[in-house]
Amino acid sequence: MEMTIRPRRLRNGAVLRKMVRETRMDKSSLIYPMFVREGSGIREEISTMPGQFRYSVDQMPYKLEELTKAGVDKVMFFGIPDHKDACGSGAYAQDGIVQKAFCKAKEEFPHLYLIGDVCMCEYTSHGHCGILQGEYVDNDRTLEYLAKIALSQVQAGADMVAPSDMMDGRIGAIRRILDDNGYVETPIMSYAVKYASAFYGPFRDAAGSAPSFGDRKAYQMDYHNSREAVKEALLDVEEGADIIMVKPALSYLDVITRVRELVDLPVAAYGVSGEYAMIKAAASLGYVDEDAMICETAASVYRAGADIFLTYYAEKIARFMDEGRIG
Ligand code: PBG
Repeated sequence: MEMTIRPRRLRNGAVLRKMVRETRMDKSSLIYPMFVREGSGIREEISTMPGQFRYSVDQMPYKLEELTKAGVDKVMFFGIPDHKDACGSGAYAQDGIVQKAFCKAKEEFPHLYLIGDVCMCEYTSHGHCGILQGEYVDNDRTLEYLAKIALSQVQAGADMVAPSDMMDGRIGAIRRILDDNGYVETPIMSYAVKYASAFYGPFRDAAGSAPSFGDRKAYQMDYHNSREAVKEALLDVEEGADIIMVKPALSYLDVITRVRELVDLPVAAYGVSGEYAMIKAAASLGYVDEDAMICETAASVYRAGADIFLTYYAEKIARFMDEGRIG
């Protein structure tokens, strides 16, 4: 058989396959999202996200210890307050839940890199990501609150803030307040391209943040669009974002690729709660091999162009990297 080009030549044996691998990933790019709640002695499993827990601040160190052992050194905190109100005041309270978590984590785990999700939906009585004017989320009034939230998180010990609200102009507003207060070196990871997605369902159960009426389509993006992703990403670059995030990940791999090609900043992708829950549910029924799915989906996100991956599977992925299964 006359054939000079044989693609299979480079697939013979694990050593060769690994040498010619096109996508390389590293534990340093993993961020673990974690839920912290009020109370003490609490480590409560999230029913829609088996294997994920809500931790009271005193229980949080056990998880941070585990992450450290696995080599995951970046954590993003979501706070679950006891009390909610119309303007989400718990989100910027000095003794707010997430502020307490930052203080403790910074003190006991100084080597960890701590990131704050900046949003209001876990803290507002109506569950929307901003201040309401009737049933409309008032963009410009919300900016003042988001800026306050970001500042309070940084003052409490956050190394980076990540606004996820999707209001126009929030990166600029947050950059200004941080700079005015001397935090010129604190980076902003913008959830620049965030779609209105059914994949957030389990998260909203976990955080009790489902909107009490309507949906988030007047601020999060329509999933039919990808040119709009470019517009959002470029705007945030102009406003001073340091990292651009695309969210969710799996149904938006094309968007990750597009943003990666157009933007010079690091690109992050968030494998959200519904992506985690889908794999968990299918695996628990014996329909798929969980570990193999974790590896393949993670590699797909990096292959699409992500530099950074936020995932509830961070610890497992780190272990698989150590074992040489992926990476
Ligand atoms: C807050 C926020 C959400 C997520 C991250 N930040 C929920 C939402 O927008 O409704 C979703 C994360 C996940 O599903 O894992 N706005």
